[in-house]
Order: sequence, then C-alpha cells, then structure tokens
Amino acid sequence: MYVVGGSASQKLAGELAKVLKAKLAKVEVKRFPDDECYVRVDEELDGEEVILVQTTWPDKNIIELFLLQDAIKEFEVSSLTTVVPYFGYARQDKQFKPGEPISARALARLIQEQTDAFITVDVHATSVIDWFSEVSAHNAHAYPEIGKFLMKKGVQMVLSPDEGRWDNARRIADVMNCEADFLVKERLDGETVTMTPKSLEVKGKNVAIVDDIISTGGTIVKAAEQLRKHGAAHITAACTHGVFAKDAVSRLKACCDDIYSTDTIENPTTAISVAPQIARAAME
Ligand code: R5P
Repeated sequence: MYVVGGSASQKLAGELAKVLKAKLAKVEVKRFPDDECYVRVDEELDGEEVILVQTTWPDKNIIELFLLQDAIKEFEVSSLTTVVPYFGYARQDKQFKPGEPISARALARLIQEQTDAFITVDVHATSVIDWFSEVSAHNAHAYPEIGKFLMKKGVQMVLSPDEGRWDNARRIADVMNCEADFLVKERLDGETVTMTPKSLEVKGKNVAIVDDIISTGGTIVKAAEQLRKHGAAHITAACTHGVFAKDAVSRLKACCDDIYSTDTIENPTTAISVAPQIARAAME
C-alpha cells in the first residue's frame, strides 16, 4: 500500500503512512513560469492500493488533486482512495440565490470521476457525502483525537459556539468525561456574528470552545467574550479545520489563552493528527 501526499497535506500523509504501515510515495510538485501546476509520482504503483491525501483549499490545491489522481490512474493500481481532509467549498452546499452554482456538489462530481473511494473529515455539510453517488464515501470524525488532546491539556468543560455544532461538542466532552454546553449564534454576514447571552457555569474553569471550522475567528471571539464575562479561568479555542482567514490568529490570541487545530489544514496551530481516524475509515 502507498500513501501519496499532495503539497497541502504532506504531514498528514506521512502520519497516515505510519499508522497504516504503508509506504509514503515520492512526489514532485512544481509550478511552471505561468503558474500552471506540474506533478509526478516517482514510484511504481502497478498493482498497489493507493491512498491520495490532499486538502482542497485554497483553490490551487484543487487542480493539484486532479492532476495527482490522473497521474495515479495512469498506473494499473488495484484501488485509489482519495482523502480530502478539509473539503473546501462545503459551506456552499445550496443555492442561496438563483443563478448560483452548488459549489460543493460541483467539486464532489469532479473528484469522484477519478477515484474508487472517498474519505473526508468533519465535512461542514453532510449532503456532500451523498453527492458521491458513484463511489463509496465516508465522513471521518476528529472528535476522538480532539477529546484525547484536550483532556491532556486539563480542559474541564467543552463549549459549542453554535447550537448546530452541539453534537460535536458533546461527543468531545464524552471522550473527556466532562460537561458540555452551547451558545446560540446568529450570523449577520460572512464576518459578523452575534451571540445570545446565556448564563454559563464556568467560573474558575478551564474551558475549550470547539468548532468544526475557524475562518475569520468571529464566532470564537464572540464565544470567548461570553466565557470571560462569566469568569472562565482559561480559554482554549480548538477546531478541526484551521482556515484562519485574514487576521484571525491575532484576533483569537487577544481573547484565548491557547489555539489548536488538527492537521486537515497544516498551519502553526496544528497540534492534533486525524491520521488514526482516516486510517480507520480507510480500513472499513
Ligand atoms: C459555521 O456554521 C461553522 O461551524 C463555523 O462556526 C464557522 O465557519 C466559523 O466561521 P468564523 O470563524 O468566520 O466565525
């Protein structure tokens, strides 16, 4: 078995190869002077089971994924599983106005053209999985790894900043055997959210706010304000997908004591690997 890592998911591909006791393929990726992408898989993959790992964000990583799929399919591989750890465009999962595409579906249709199986992690809209109608598709979860990690950090309570993500917070809290609560959020636009004030039993506690994605950081900042108001002693922000658009990290540093994310998007806050959960999904 070989694991092929695209340039967006090098570390995770290495971790996954270790967990699966597979070989990590040598891959060359470069850009031509006109910025077109070039890839080459420098291995003999005939007869091999291959797992390709590449996050589809930002956009340039999408074309790299398609080229890697094509390069792998040029061999006579016994199977190709495409792992997209962070599925970019999953938040564009419906038409909000006539004339718009369903962007997540467009991406799903193209990815499944060149693979035998598909795995993603904590996809924002589970409808994405249903659009993989031609191949087996699986949404793996980061919560077991996030729970183990936060427990080691001494976190005593888990808070979801949004009722919609309550399930994820409760699962993390179950792993840690601690309490969980949620806030009620309203999104006004891409960068602004409001939070309904609520009484929280957090005085003197070490609390983690957990979300699937941190993008602008607006959601976590509002939740952290509520926690400070109620006397939380230590505030951690943790997420599966650390997009951290614009100045999100500095906004978060101003109100949180710690910031952690998983390796679905590799960035300086990455501290948790989802490789064990992807390996588990790949072996199912
Ligand atoms: C929304 O439904 C998601 O679960 C996240 O809460 C959201 O994507 C976070 O975005 P931001 O960091 O921009 O507030």
